[in-house]
Amino acid sequence: MATTTQAIPVDENVSKYVAKARPMLINGKWVNAASGKTFPTYNPATGEILAHVVEGDREDIDRAVAAARTAFDKGPWRKLSPSERARLVWKLADLLEKHAEEFAQLECLNQGKPLTLARVADIPVSIDQLRYYAGWATKIEGNTIPLSMQGGGKFLAYTLREPIGVVGQIIPWNFPLIMATLKLGPALAVGCTVVLKPAEQTPLTALRLGELIQEAGFPEGVVNIVPGYGETAGAALAAHPHVDKIAFTGSTEVGKLIVHAAAGNLKKVSLELGGKSPNIVFQDAEIDSAIPGAANAIFFNQGQVCCAGSRLYVEDKQFDKVVDGVSQIASKLRIGPGMESTTQIGPLVSEEQLNRVCGYLESGYSEGARAAVGGKRHGAKGYFVEPTILVNTNEKMKVVREEIFGPVVTVMPFQDLDDLVGKANDTPYGLAAAVWTRDIKKAHHIAAELRAGTVWINCYGVLDSAMPFGGYKQSGWGREMGHQMLELYTEVKSVCTPIS
Ligand code: NAI
Ligand code: MG
Repeated sequence: MATTTQAIPVDENVSKYVAKARPMLINGKWVNAASGKTFPTYNPATGEILAHVVEGDREDIDRAVAAARTAFDKGPWRKLSPSERARLVWKLADLLEKHAEEFAQLECLNQGKPLTLARVADIPVSIDQLRYYAGWATKIEGNTIPLSMQGGGKFLAYTLREPIGVVGQIIPWNFPLIMATLKLGPALAVGCTVVLKPAEQTPLTALRLGELIQEAGFPEGVVNIVPGYGETAGAALAAHPHVDKIAFTGSTEVGKLIVHAAAGNLKKVSLELGGKSPNIVFQDAEIDSAIPGAANAIFFNQGQVCCAGSRLYVEDKQFDKVVDGVSQIASKLRIGPGMESTTQIGPLVSEEQLNRVCGYLESGYSEGARAAVGGKRHGAKGYFVEPTILVNTNEKMKVVREEIFGPVVTVMPFQDLDDLVGKANDTPYGLAAAVWTRDIKKAHHIAAELRAGTVWINCYGVLDSAMPFGGYKQSGWGREMGHQMLELYTEVKSVCTPIS
């Protein structure tokens, strides 16, 4: 039965928000770029300009870092009690909840993702992250340490866990608001000050969040938001001598540039980078959940997910059944603008990303891969790509080795467990993996063998503010989410004194 597609009316506040060129937030004020420049940001469903945003560059980063430095070294922020910091972060979450629909629409219009998805995933997750870290503000503790090496003298030794200082945060475009709240929540909870640089493709929800940060009552300079390009604003932030720590999420290639840029003042670095995560279906799996699980693992958010299940390994006796099942799901997914009520697959974020993904498809075909379903651009307007399953693939192909970051999964059969583990781990990445089986011993055996920061058993993509997430190998440095993330934003100080 055909479902009628309905365009969802744009919220009045959203129309007003995009109608004006958006300034940046520095030291509690909304200002223009020092250069006076702006840049356009697009609606990827149409390719048309959605809004204009001020273009931050080195000088603006300098101003923002100076404001964050003063707010950290001299401002009222350091004097606030943990519970006052908790209250502010929680208040920000409440304000976000109050404006949830507006944020969902802005995200949909600027990023492309289906509005129905932004409503149930992006916005609630962002709110939850802020609340989770608000809860931690009052629970950052040190230890007392019994000393042994002091020749009988008695000492009191203890540790303090202190905020690391001024933090630069550079975030990508796949989950723009989630990335902003996940980075801001723990940094603010522990008492850092921040310069946040959203991705040039998707600056709008971070900037709108800046207005709520003002409304919540954070002291000036605690959060500064500077939109701009990576090569200019991002590079200036990563290299800045007065920044104590840089947190980056994005490509592995840029992650390496961040590490070099950070060397000047040896600022601390955490990285959440790409992935090429194996999703493994055994013959004894509950196939009726493994098939939709495998589809969702790659098609969610148009495949623009760092932990997407982009290498599907299926035990050979079930290979055809799984390929058919995932293909059937893929062929029925409704492609369209995110602002339509029936859309399940929106556009990719940008023309650049469209070209990248189509380039990978071409490379796959030239190396002998075949599309079991999908396999090309959808339509001529907007940046849509069909949900695609590539078969006839092998571990030497570029489409199997490199992150595509689009709705494209490669499927390969396997015979035995040892062969499988070797193949699954044969990647420079190590972000996530999944295994589908009814055999509990096998599941936990493989979970231990896989070199990945997260392993899902009989599910895929389950993430939670409380569960640590991050990469082995070239998928990153450090763990985000969970209490582990607090370590990225704190220093440990040992204090020691004789007491007899
Ligand atoms: P990117 O890594 O270039 O961009 C991510 C962020 O880094 C953006 O804010 C960008 O402005 C900034 N940036 C870029 N160059 C920089 C530099 N030299 N110094 C400091 N900051 C810089 O990612 P891009 O080009 O948008 O996407 C390319 C590929 O990266 C994707 O196809 C995908 O494979 C991967 N990617 C992975 C993400 C993840 O969540 N792990 C997110 C986005 C992209
Ligand atoms: Mg790039």
